[in-house]
Amino acid sequence: MFYDPARRDHGLPRDPFKSLVVPRPIGWISTLSRDGVVNLAPFSYFNAVATEPAVVMFCPGGGRPPDPRKDSRRNAEETGEFVVNIVTEAMREQMNLTSAEVPPEVDEMALAGLEALPSRLVKPPRVKGAPAHLECVYLQTVELPFVDPDKPNAIVLGRVVGVHIDDRIITDGLIDMDKFRPVARLGYMDYTVVDNVFTMERPK
Ligand SMILES: Cc1cc2nc3c(=O)[nH]c(=O)nc-3n(C[C@H](O)[C@H](O)[C@H](O)COP(=O)(O)O)c2cc1C
Repeated sequence: MFYDPARRDHGLPRDPFKSLVVPRPIGWISTLSRDGVVNLAPFSYFNAVATEPAVVMFCPGGGRPPDPRKDSRRNAEETGEFVVNIVTEAMREQMNLTSAEVPPEVDEMALAGLEALPSRLVKPPRVKGAPAHLECVYLQTVELPFVDPDKPNAIVLGRVVGVHIDDRIITDGLIDMDKFRPVARLGYMDYTVVDNVFTMERPK
């Protein structure tokens, strides 16, 4: 089959697009508003995009009136900082709770019964219990095409300035996927856990 994603003429009961580029890691983004309210939300349009220096991105769609930006984007742009918390199997329910569309004055970390840990180099707190955290300084926003001007799409880029790793997920100096077990997003309402690893050497 072939279809035009702009017309969505796939003829399937549900849009298949998000099921094709999978699995997508989940960036659980903590930020602070200008007033100091903690915000926490998951983004699966998220990835690491460079190593030297380390850069990550997350891609918010449209928020709610009066500001068409999602809170995570607005906070990163206004305060210049965000933290990526890595979601594991054990924290999946709490991650899901923090995707609720709540007003900006609601602290989603508290809402999901999560404890905050201070960061070292940036002000937004980290999620206690997440096995890895990336402290980030906002770099820039790249505006993407949109269908509805009230729902802008964007890439928010940040430089990673500090990395926390729970020592318990390190075995013999390597990140141990059996202990890490990060969760990733598939299409629809489906998820997966990284629990199947194979190794291939690069050609010389
Ligand atoms: C697993 C998961 C992944 C998500 N990924 C995205 C995403 O990549 N982009 C997006 O705009 N919303 C995404 N959402 C929805 C946001 O988390 C949700 O809109 C949230 O309320 C945004 O919060 P904020 O306004 O506090 O930034 C995702 C939700 C879940 C559960």
